[in-house]
Amino acid sequence: MGIDQRFTRHFAERFSGLNVLETCTGAGFSTISLARTAKHVITVEIDESIQKKAISNIRKAGLSEKVSFLLGSILETETIKKIPKVDAVFIDPDWAVTGPDHIYRFQKSNTQPPADLVLRNMLNMTDNVAIVLPPFISVEEFEGLPEHEREKLCLGESHELFCLYFGDLIKSLGETEFRVTE
Ligand SMILES: C[S@@+](CC[C@H](N)C(=O)[O-])C[C@H]1O[C@@H](n2cnc3c(N)ncnc32)[C@H](O)[C@@H]1O
Repeated sequence: MGIDQRFTRHFAERFSGLNVLETCTGAGFSTISLARTAKHVITVEIDESIQKKAISNIRKAGLSEKVSFLLGSILETETIKKIPKVDAVFIDPDWAVTGPDHIYRFQKSNTQPPADLVLRNMLNMTDNVAIVLPPFISVEEFEGLPEHEREKLCLGESHELFCLYFGDLIKSLGETEFRVTE
């Protein structure tokens, strides 16, 4: 699964030529798009079996030389210490921790890793951060964040995701839209 490749390719355009930290790897679909445009990607994943799938997917895509894999939690100092200086960060937290009663929220986030916490931590590392979020979050929850672009990503008429961009990744402040017409 993972994010639609038309969206990951779109995100990746903003990371062209950069040294990028990605969290979290998952099966590596966004990593593949990032690796195609970025100078280099270091990608962090907490689950070893999932990381193995990503390593295999990235090998099949012929991109192994562009990607370094780091096993660990992005919330742990031990993991952070192993990350070299990067130009920008791409965050894709896990919203699949859901059941029918899952409440989508950003503040005091119930994702893994918590979206609000990981965003704050990454903004301490660099100003240039993008975070992918589900469409069900009330935009009032983004109030108080540093200035950013809030992009609505749509497949046809369906709003699929938000992506918030900070720092040099911003193209235009405020709300923007990217629509894939099928
Ligand atoms: C939404 S998936 C990433 C999907 C990926 N971007 C893709 O396009 O294939 C989120 C991943 O975050 C991982 N994860 C959860 N908590 C984490 C943490 N604290 N540190 C690093 N990775 C974590 C999960 O194991 C899961 O694989």
